[in-house]
Amino acid sequence: MRTAVELIAAKRDGKRLADEEIRWLIGEFAEDRLPAYQMSALAMAIFYNGLDDRETRTWTDAMLRSGRVLDLAHLGSGRVDKHSTGGVGDKISLPLAPAAAACGVLVPMVAGRGLGHTGGTIDKLEAIPGYRASLDVDTFAGIVREHGFCIMGQTEDIAPADKRLYALRDVTGTVESIPLITASIMSKKLAEGIEGLILDVKVGPGAFMKTRERARELAERMVAVGGEMGKRVIAFLTRMDAPLGRMVGNACEVAESIDVLRGGGPADVVELVEVLGGAMVEVAKGVSFDEGRARIRAALNDGSALARFRGSIAAQGGDLDALPTPTGETVVTAPRDGHVAMIDGHEVGLTAMSLGAGRRRREDVIDPVVGVRVDAMVGAEVAAGAPLATILHGAGGPPPAEAIARLRAAFTLSDTETPVAPLIIERIG
Ligand code: URA
Repeated sequence: MRTAVELIAAKRDGKRLADEEIRWLIGEFAEDRLPAYQMSALAMAIFYNGLDDRETRTWTDAMLRSGRVLDLAHLGSGRVDKHSTGGVGDKISLPLAPAAAACGVLVPMVAGRGLGHTGGTIDKLEAIPGYRASLDVDTFAGIVREHGFCIMGQTEDIAPADKRLYALRDVTGTVESIPLITASIMSKKLAEGIEGLILDVKVGPGAFMKTRERARELAERMVAVGGEMGKRVIAFLTRMDAPLGRMVGNACEVAESIDVLRGGGPADVVELVEVLGGAMVEVAKGVSFDEGRARIRAALNDGSALARFRGSIAAQGGDLDALPTPTGETVVTAPRDGHVAMIDGHEVGLTAMSLGAGRRRREDVIDPVVGVRVDAMVGAEVAAGAPLATILHGAGGPPPAEAIARLRAAFTLSDTETPVAPLIIERIG
């Protein structure tokens, strides 16, 4: 067996790693015997030189086996989850999981924290006072049985190698790698004891995959790895050339999700919940996609999805009525008249992160209240001085001038009306 240094150098030079070498590296890393600096170097070598299909499958399998694979067969069939590759303002799991549960889908969702400029479902849920993201597997399964869904954080025993690597990639500039994203997502999702998985692969300036070609490549890799592991996987490529919905942050995204669960909320969030949920119902219940989508729409409008959300969050100790609110607001205004042509989600995400909505270093603590509200969405016409966005203050008070300037610069204004491109680009699988 080659040493860790030899394996890093091999990948640096574009060579293949053998199955047993990959299993050894992941095993050593999971057990804390391979130091973070060596794994960081390897991740950077993979970022540049990639992994081929077989290496990706082995890497995924090794991360999956670094921990426990849940067996939830006793809950019955129809166990389907959804995962997003990460976007700005992407709170979709919050309304989606209860809406799917209200349609009879069982959703055992293990979710992540913020990564790079994107937020994480668990960070958002932790803005709810009392909410506990760490559960033991029996409690998790019990909540899924009773409420139809449960969202918990990655435990030490589910894909622990991914948990460590994810945190490392977040702070070493190695997130945007197709094989590393594939292995990260598929290892923890396949450990959930699900039969099917719906993937939301984001494309655009606010996403890790900036072009349609790269996003398609990622989607195809994930659908292939899932299929080889015996799961039904469907991926949607969806546009991320503006933040999703109006809110970017943690508590404010929970509040926006509740609006959607009350039958309101921004049209783009509602559309995505319907489409991804429709596919979840299709896979779990064997109905057509259109029928699945209609059932999800009904669950959002008749209060049944909201009731599921309340039940499951309360079972995890969360008090939705105590959701914290901003301590103040700063309005960011338009420098001139125009039409909003684009909103750079990457910049909006980084601005929110710099104010405390995300982490710059692994050990940073999130301010749940800080956030950004987009006041003028793509397509809107604004006059000079009108609000483009509003910064929601947290414990740190008003934002520094550079955050305001950065947020203003994230908006591209044009003189002519801009057509809004469709949200759903393509379905794969
Ligand atoms: N989401 C994940 O779970 N992992 C990644 O690597 C990127 C997005």
